[in-house]
Amino acid sequence: MKVTVVGAGAVGASCAEYIAIKNFASEVVLLDIKEGFAEGKAMDLMQTASLNGFDTKITGVTNDYSKTADSDICVITSGIPRKPGMTREELIGINAGIVKNVSSSLLEHSPNMILIVVSNPMDTMTYLAHKATGLPKNRIIGMGGALDSARFKYRLAEALEAPISDIDGMVIGGHSDTGMVPLTSHATRNSIRVSEFLSEERLEQVAADTKVGGATLTKLLGTSAWYAPGAAVSGMVQAIACDTKKIFPCSTLLDGEYGLSDICIGVPVVLGKNGIERIVDIPLSDAEKAHLQSSAEGVKKTNGLLEV
Ligand code: 2OP
Repeated sequence: MKVTVVGAGAVGASCAEYIAIKNFASEVVLLDIKEGFAEGKAMDLMQTASLNGFDTKITGVTNDYSKTADSDICVITSGIPRKPGMTREELIGINAGIVKNVSSSLLEHSPNMILIVVSNPMDTMTYLAHKATGLPKNRIIGMGGALDSARFKYRLAEALEAPISDIDGMVIGGHSDTGMVPLTSHATRNSIRVSEFLSEERLEQVAADTKVGGATLTKLLGTSAWYAPGAAVSGMVQAIACDTKKIFPCSTLLDGEYGLSDICIGVPVVLGKNGIERIVDIPLSDAEKAHLQSSAEGVKKTNGLLEV
């Protein structure tokens, strides 16, 4: 199993590290445009192999896509991260060109790849990857919901004063500060609906804190987060590589599902060896349906800024 991660910045390097530590891939190629940067990160990570107990071979390359040839899964993290006060959508001017070029370069060497897009604005970048590569829609996946759901669970555990391992919850919709849809009606604490423990007001606060989870960290860190984004995408890579059929909320191209078409946005999907094995239709409350529709309008507005 060969995985390529484009972008050796904080998110890409964290993703590569988590993939390596999970030991399911034979090789991870880490590529960056900055001379020597990916090579250095890869060497540093390889020097943790005996300490962290993995046999995965991590190779760093500078802008040489021939070294990514025949990758089974490719992850695009390259592009600029946001600064405090910025929205993800404001990154489109620079990141669209990067994602378009990187997608094409990856496709040239790995025509059978499954592509995961992390770069922001992620839903629009995922849509752009479809336009740039023409890959079947099951083989282009956007990572946002897995991260947002992890933040949702974190906030629920905090509110419930419960272990995160007891919490289940999912966020669908656009990966944006205003477009996320935390499914509070579905969230549970060890199979018990969290609404049995938390007031409506407290749940609304949990949802609000979840939506700005990325912005909260960007304000604290001065740049976008990286540990949780890296962990989220490594979990998706593992589900595909190991054909686990786990369900993740992922940005995927819709063709009528959830009443939406010609848009990439976060919905529950089964991930396996074919990438998106199927889209899962779940019951939504009227409020959740309205939030998803509103979120889709926001994503389509950002899509309209693309020059495809
Ligand atoms: C985040 O929410 C980078 O979009 C990513 O942290």
